[in-house]
Amino acid sequence: MNYGLLNSITKLNHECLVIGVFSNSDANKLADFSDKKFNNLIPALTPKLKEAGDTLWQAEVDGHSLMLIHCGKEKEFNAISLRKRIDEISTALIKQRIQSATICLPQINDHDADWQLLQMVLQLDTHVYQMLDYKSAKKIHTLTNVDFYLPAASAQTLSVANAINTGVNLTRRLADLPANRCTPSYLAEQADDLARHHEKIKTTLINHNEMREYGMGAFLAVAQGSVQPPYLIELKYQGVGNSAPIVLVGKGITFDSGGLSIKPASAMDEMKYDMAGAASVLGTLNACALLNLPINVIGLIATAENMPSGTAVKPGDIVTSMSGQTIEILNTDAEGRLVLADALTYAERFNPEFVIDIATLTGAIIVALGTSTTGFMTTDNELAALINQAAEDSEDRCWRMPLDDIYQDALDSPIADMINAGFDRTAGSITAACFLSRFTKNYRWAHLDVAGTAWVSGKKRHATGRPVPLLIQILRHVADSR
Ligand code: BES
Ligand code: MN
Ligand code: ZN
Repeated sequence: MNYGLLNSITKLNHECLVIGVFSNSDANKLADFSDKKFNNLIPALTPKLKEAGDTLWQAEVDGHSLMLIHCGKEKEFNAISLRKRIDEISTALIKQRIQSATICLPQINDHDADWQLLQMVLQLDTHVYQMLDYKSAKKIHTLTNVDFYLPAASAQTLSVANAINTGVNLTRRLADLPANRCTPSYLAEQADDLARHHEKIKTTLINHNEMREYGMGAFLAVAQGSVQPPYLIELKYQGVGNSAPIVLVGKGITFDSGGLSIKPASAMDEMKYDMAGAASVLGTLNACALLNLPINVIGLIATAENMPSGTAVKPGDIVTSMSGQTIEILNTDAEGRLVLADALTYAERFNPEFVIDIATLTGAIIVALGTSTTGFMTTDNELAALINQAAEDSEDRCWRMPLDDIYQDALDSPIADMINAGFDRTAGSITAACFLSRFTKNYRWAHLDVAGTAWVSGKKRHATGRPVPLLIQILRHVADSR
């Protein structure tokens, strides 16, 4: 997709022109066309639109088509209504098989023009994305060029938007791929691919044998039931001299059957998305390199397949993690925290500025927050403030959950240092975070549980690319504050 920014529209240069209008047509002097007919047309048509979201197509205006869309009340035109309008416009343009369009919406009240431009491009791009690898009849979207008219915005915002889109789309694509293609080895290849494309990214693969040497007993326990070899993938983005890196750790379970604590059949297919955290690390590093951010970032991807078999880990088995702490694996379906435990211990070697892990960790977070908001836990208030600010700036919503010591008792084991899953399901997301917290004592750390936000489930299931916009915003904040 090509996105452009126009500072004036005096003639129609694209197949379709989209104009957002308010009920009071005085406010509709957005464009001033050299063609007077056209100037008169818009105020004449506007009264036909009654409420926000109403659209009106005019197919033949000088060989172009015109789409008017009602933007509601001028005073109420904000980020939320903007998002809805962009959804409606994108759907319409794609359905009409338009190839090129100019979109001209008034400015929203609650953010500046550059923010609006960024959001419009990101939101439109979510509609353009397609996963066609497995379709024999490929109905490819025709939309390839969109210009926005927003006089107060700067074209530099478009390069930021393009970088984020590339990251989000890589994340979506990897998460959408089925588990028979997207294996741990495939993710390792993708990391190598990133390194090939970006001079500032280097990758190292830690294989099964090396993991054994590190004593990563928790990680290896998850992988031992599968024929797919596990990897700890290390990506280094060096954007600046020697400053302490930010470490992003992604859960990369390419398929989570539950293991011997097997999951029910219904919707088990969606457990191909259980590597969405890992995919978001790859997408974020990709965007980071494209933006050439002057910071250092390490991506760590803990990837394995969780399968039942004669070699699989059994409920009750006790393993020793890299940290030396022992874990009684009561439920083999609480596997994400096991691979993360060793990856988080490994993260210590980088003396990080802070560490954020991203994981589709618990079904409980969906019960708590639904599918619009990512849950996060940290005991570091400054880091929490940074995450909250980035969430607000990027519209990639999240909400802080408690992580008090009072919840730690749920992990007591009569025989080992801890169990890997609480006895009952209460506070399931928090006890999962408590488990991780036992491996993150030596640095500043936050945990993002994206089980509800990384993909949309059901008949139209698809990955969302979240939380790449949030992570990029965090990294941009850090880059700006230095
Ligand atoms: N990958 C799942 C979490 C998940 C569940 C994500 C549903 C999205 C939708 C994770 O590995 C898991 O199975 N967690 C268990 C933990 C339990 C056994 C303590 C869960 O949430 O049920
Ligand atoms: Mn599981
Ligand atoms: Zn899982």
